Amino acid sequence: MSRMPLPYNPKILELFKHPKNLGKMEDASVSAVAGNPSCGDMITFYLKINDRHVIEKASFESYGCAANIATSSIVTEMVKGLTLEEAWKISWKNVTEAVGGLPSVKFHCGILAVGALKRAIRKYLKQKGLSPSWVQSDLH
Ligand code: FES
Repeated sequence: MSRMPLPYNPKILELFKHPKNLGKMEDASVSAVAGNPSCGDMITFYLKINDRHVIEKASFESYGCAANIATSSIVTEMVKGLTLEEAWKISWKNVTEAVGGLPSVKFHCGILAVGALKRAIRKYLKQKGLSPSWVQSDLH
C-alpha cells in the first residue's frame, strides 16, 4: 500500500531540495542540538555572533523530514542580522508563515527548528554569563 504524499507547498519543496545554509559551521560562536521525541528527528544549529550580540550568520544540519529542513533553512535566513533578543522572539508560527504554511501534522517540525535556535541562544548567553530579562520571561 502506498502512502499519500503530504500536501507540501512549492516553497517547502524548493527549500527542501535546495536548502540554504546547510552544513556545519567551523567558526561558529555556538552550536546546539535539539531533538524531537515524538518523531526521533534531530537538528544541530550553528550561530556566529559578534560583540554587539548580532547574529552574523547561521547554519544547520538536519536529520529531519522535508518540513524540518525547510523550516530550519528559513530560520537561518530570518535570523541573519538580528540581535539575539530579536531572534529569540521568532515563534514557530512566524516560521510556519514564512514557509507558506505547513500541514498541521508537521507543525512540530517547525517547532523543532525554533527550539534549536533558542537552545543555541540560551547556550551562548550562558557561556558569556549573561541572563537578560527577555530570556527569563520566556519559558518556552
Ligand atoms: Fe520529525 Fe518532521 S517528522 S522533524
